[in-house]
Amino acid sequence: MKILGIESSCDETAASIVEDGTRLLSNVVHTQIDIHAEYGGVVPEIAARSHIEVINPVIQRALDDAHHTWDDIDAIAVTYAPGLSGSLLVGTLAARTIAHLKGKPLYPIHHVEAHVYANFITEQAGTLSLALPNRQPEFPMLALIVSGGHSQLALFRDHGDYELLGQTQDDAVGEAFDKVAKMLGLPYPGGPSIARAAELGNAAAYTFPKAKLAGKYDFSFSGLKTAVLRRLQSEVGKDFTFPSHELPALVNDQLRHDFAASFQRIAIETLVSKARLAYDEYQPASVVIAGGVAANQELRRQLREAVPIDIEYAPPSLCTDNAAMIATLGYYETLRKQPVSPFDLEIQPSLSMAPRNIVV
Ligand code: KG4
Ligand code: ZN
Repeated sequence: MKILGIESSCDETAASIVEDGTRLLSNVVHTQIDIHAEYGGVVPEIAARSHIEVINPVIQRALDDAHHTWDDIDAIAVTYAPGLSGSLLVGTLAARTIAHLKGKPLYPIHHVEAHVYANFITEQAGTLSLALPNRQPEFPMLALIVSGGHSQLALFRDHGDYELLGQTQDDAVGEAFDKVAKMLGLPYPGGPSIARAAELGNAAAYTFPKAKLAGKYDFSFSGLKTAVLRRLQSEVGKDFTFPSHELPALVNDQLRHDFAASFQRIAIETLVSKARLAYDEYQPASVVIAGGVAANQELRRQLREAVPIDIEYAPPSLCTDNAAMIATLGYYETLRKQPVSPFDLEIQPSLSMAPRNIVV
């Protein structure tokens, strides 16, 4: 069964065809990073406009790259939640229109759940050459979901049957990377910039407190961000009233690299120690990481060391936003659910993952 996935929830316009929830046939991602970089973050109105400009060519290329026509496609899967309203609208309207005109079943997909499904892609068509895992994860599966908008630990007992063990109480970890990068004068998006700067710095140069929370699998990254800010202000001889946007001008390369490395170490240690705790309690058969921050090499290294089972990682390009993960989850949804009417599908910009999601 071949699913066309469509993703437009934030600043990537993407379309992909995946066969049987495991074989990648095409994967097209048009990123708007260059457009938003000069503003230091995503500007929602500009994002929506850019999606409109490229969505049709991106979908057509996904078909062309796979040498497929509409006749080859069995169903359409599209991100309908969560994300920026204007951005989500473009993808869902495109999907609804195609589903209606071409007579294809339509499946709405939750973006954060879909991130986890990047780990189920284990095969690819000849022209693609990603370093994919050798086999699909097994259930029960512990998933650490770490992106720009989400930080969650979830236990999947089966497809569509998961329990949210914990989540961030304030900022997502990717958001913390992005904000600390801004203070240090590192370019947007902050995650990859911090990771690069950290390679040149001393990760033991500074230490920051780790948040203690009531929920043992919950996260909090807002305190870490503030601790970095205060320490940076004092290192450059200023007090807490000094505006963060004026810091980059006073930060030299040595400070920048040491702060990036020290912040990254604490943020990653926090994620890894909670994942290890959950591993010990639930003894899952597999552990996966998902979302943009899962591209981070230090996270991959530390987690491999902390967990006593073999972990296979999805390639970084399938960790950041893409439509292959949407098409992959779409396939498993077709096995359990009825399609929705193309006339009724509404976006749900702030729908989070359910605390307990069981398919009946
Ligand atoms: O999953 P994603 O592409 O979009 C959301 O759904 O949020 O995640 C984007 C986030 C950004 O915060 C970005 O800075 C972070 O992922 N990120 C990274 C790395 N690559 C992207 N964070 C740490 N290390 C990286 N290598
Ligand atoms: Zn995402």
